[in-house]
Amino acid sequence: MHSFRYVGQELYCEDVPVSALAKKHGTPLFVYSQTTLADHFQRLDSSLAPLDHLICFAMKSNSNLAVIRTFADLGGGFDTVSAGEIQRVVAAGGDPSKCVFAGVGKTEEEIAFALKQGIYSFNVESEAELARISRVAVRLKKIAPVAVRVNPNVDAHTHAKITTGTYENKFGIQFEHIEAVYARAAKLPNLRLRGLQMHIGSQLTDVEPFRQAVEKVAPLVSRLNARHGFDFFSIGGGLGIVYRDGLASGSPAWWKTPEGRKILTPQSYADTLVPLLKPLGLKILLEPGRFLSGNAGVLVTRVEYIKKTGKKNFVIVDAAMNDLIRPAFYDSFHEIVPVLKKGGKPVSSDVVGPVCESGDYFAKDRPLPKVAEGDHLALLSAGAYGSVMGSNYNSRALAAEVMVKGRKSAVVRRRQEIPAIWGNESVASWQGR
Ligand code: LLP
Repeated sequence: MHSFRYVGQELYCEDVPVSALAKKHGTPLFVYSQTTLADHFQRLDSSLAPLDHLICFAMKSNSNLAVIRTFADLGGGFDTVSAGEIQRVVAAGGDPSKCVFAGVGKTEEEIAFALKQGIYSFNVESEAELARISRVAVRLKKIAPVAVRVNPNVDAHTHAKITTGTYENKFGIQFEHIEAVYARAAKLPNLRLRGLQMHIGSQLTDVEPFRQAVEKVAPLVSRLNARHGFDFFSIGGGLGIVYRDGLASGSPAWWKTPEGRKILTPQSYADTLVPLLKPLGLKILLEPGRFLSGNAGVLVTRVEYIKKTGKKNFVIVDAAMNDLIRPAFYDSFHEIVPVLKKGGKPVSSDVVGPVCESGDYFAKDRPLPKVAEGDHLALLSAGAYGSVMGSNYNSRALAAEVMVKGRKSAVVRRRQEIPAIWGNESVASWQGR
């Protein structure tokens, strides 16, 4: 379910016309539906009701304070990957004791900060990191809760840049080495071996790789639990979403592709995994990012020019790869729909931004309704890995973000002022003023 739909010819986010938001706040503009965020959380939460569990939102997918607060208010925890993300949780009024801290490169300062905040657990990626966490904990006279990340060597069948669970990539510790690593970790001072963690990849649309990974890792968790007395097992994130839901053609169906293939639903995920996880008798942590935030956000952009060449119809818009890099980076598909439908025959178009790179495109040879200068378009499913991956490339300001709930809307990130882009720069002292 998501709360972007047409009322007549007009695209709405919940009860607010998107055109009104574009008019009021300008473009490029990210628009988030709070109801959708909450709905996705609650669906997952209730499908996992048979398990003692904690959903830790992977805030790398969307770390806006209002989004964090939405999940904190629903009782969620957070999967964080930097001291900055932990600070965001605190700034949003969330609870650091519900944060796990992942990532292959945690610095001493970050470890010390996380320890002082009393996080739930470190997701540890190497033996060198275990030794470092132990050293910092001794220095601070704290006990560090840790879980080692196991790399189960299961192919997630997803995009090469977002698969993480095979020995080809930098994440986790090899499955075969895990027990020896825990045995050595048990001898390090000031560590509490609290659990085990895994994550096999992102945008998984089939439950099979999850089943394979859990079936492979669960017996290991049992053995380690018997030896070290665990509290939890984290099965990571990775639940995929539908990027082509047919909203433009008027038949939105978030659970299946236009070809009619059903994708992973929270219920099918739970039906497969709960029977495997329940016997462990542990708290189960999840780290979903995209599933919670992806379809809850759109990027609204204005058409600046139509440019026809011998071969192409270019629709040049005011958003660019610095606002939403996924098409340029992963060749990702984002559905593009008019904010106001005008009818007429679709025209094969390339939707491109103003950045000086040929890679700055949102769609190529896509049949789109005919649009004109000044019209608004919405790029769907931009709530995850959208604004968080934004940059100031070409000295373009970071876009504004708005959250909607029912008839209400609020600016949750002001558009960056242009001088703020270089606000922390200066000329060198020998260059004069
Ligand atoms: N846990 C860990 C350890 C992760 O590395 C990730 C994502 C997640 C959880 C959340 O995964 P999700 O549920 O969102 O699939 N920028 C890419 C995605 C990178 C994912 C990185 N890790 C994209 O735009 O597709």
